[in-house]
Amino acid sequence: MSAIETRDLTKEFDGLTAVDRLNLTIREGELFGLLGPNGAGKTTTLKMLSTLIKPSSGTAVVAGHSILEERDKVRESIGMVFQDISLDTELTGWENLDFHARMYGMEKELRRERINEVLRLVALEDKADQYVKYYSGGMQRRLEIARGLMHYPKVLFLDEPTLGLDAQTRHVLWDYIKELANRENITIILTTHYMEEADYLCDRIGIMDYGRIVAIGTSEELKKQVGEDLISLQVRGAAGAAEKVFTGLEGVAGVSVHDSTIDLSVKNAEEQLPHVIEASQKAGLGIASVSMGRPTLEDVFLHYTGRTIRGEEASGKEAAKRRMRIGRQLWGGRRR
Ligand SMILES: Nc1ncnc2c1ncn2[C@@H]1O[C@H](COP(=O)(O)OP(=O)(O)OP(=O)(O)O)[C@@H](O)[C@H]1O
Ligand SMILES: [Mg+2]
Repeated sequence: MSAIETRDLTKEFDGLTAVDRLNLTIREGELFGLLGPNGAGKTTTLKMLSTLIKPSSGTAVVAGHSILEERDKVRESIGMVFQDISLDTELTGWENLDFHARMYGMEKELRRERINEVLRLVALEDKADQYVKYYSGGMQRRLEIARGLMHYPKVLFLDEPTLGLDAQTRHVLWDYIKELANRENITIILTTHYMEEADYLCDRIGIMDYGRIVAIGTSEELKKQVGEDLISLQVRGAAGAAEKVFTGLEGVAGVSVHDSTIDLSVKNAEEQLPHVIEASQKAGLGIASVSMGRPTLEDVFLHYTGRTIRGEEASGKEAAKRRMRIGRQLWGGRRR
């Protein structure tokens, strides 16, 4: 059975279509990521699925219940952690969890047992009696996740769980999320605009842009759709005429040219490189630098939307940064 199934799920706000006829199936036990830039419709999707707002049209079934006709049943079956922290900072960690559990009508014994359990899951046992106002940002996030888990939800929604956290704390939190996905029998759907987060955590990723899923699959599948490997050539002067040099060259699946950069998607970059150099020399292209790399989720996003996830056109500075990153990956790994 699937944990979530949406049917043409749509939300409009005064003429703006925030979520556009979404058809999404998420399997039970899956850790699914919705990846997209600001305003893509990620939070709106989670809000509809958790019955906080009503769809304009379409519907969804969450944990076997309709979000339109069985809102209470849906709410009992889900846990939510939203973008804005919503803990009571004047209470201790324990009190926050206990308050939540009472709202769900959990008995005293069960409450105690479960609070201990979820605190252990996010490694906050020793902070249970401290006021939440003295927690760090990362600790508050963990407590929120613990709270979302209190009533044994079948589905957990995490909206940008690591937003605003430093890289190190973010990694720690990822491991907690992975751990709880393994330990608790739960389906997790999270939103993020961090590529590495989706890459590291999610079984499957849906790339969202302007309210629609533009691509969906495992991280590997998505990267393969862009091309197996990437060879990036930096030429002296404009690269405009270079396109026809490489189009149709054996082993080259795609050519894209921006300014003085030529990106070639190829099956195997190392094998292909000598042929690419040879073709460049024959055509008299002056090559300033070469780099190779595997596509990243950033490249996938770019491929499907024509923009980077930060909303910039893939030219000039951003493209240069990307190439440097790819170059570093390759040469950094090689140099002794
Ligand atoms: N209550 C609302 N009224 C009007 N417009 C809204 C409302 N909520 C969201 N929107 C609009 O819907 C679009 C999608 O917003 P949403 O919050 O779902 O995006 P998001 O993908 O979660 O973005 P972010 O990464 O910034 O959190 C945006 O253009 C936003 O301005
Ligand atoms: Mg959001």
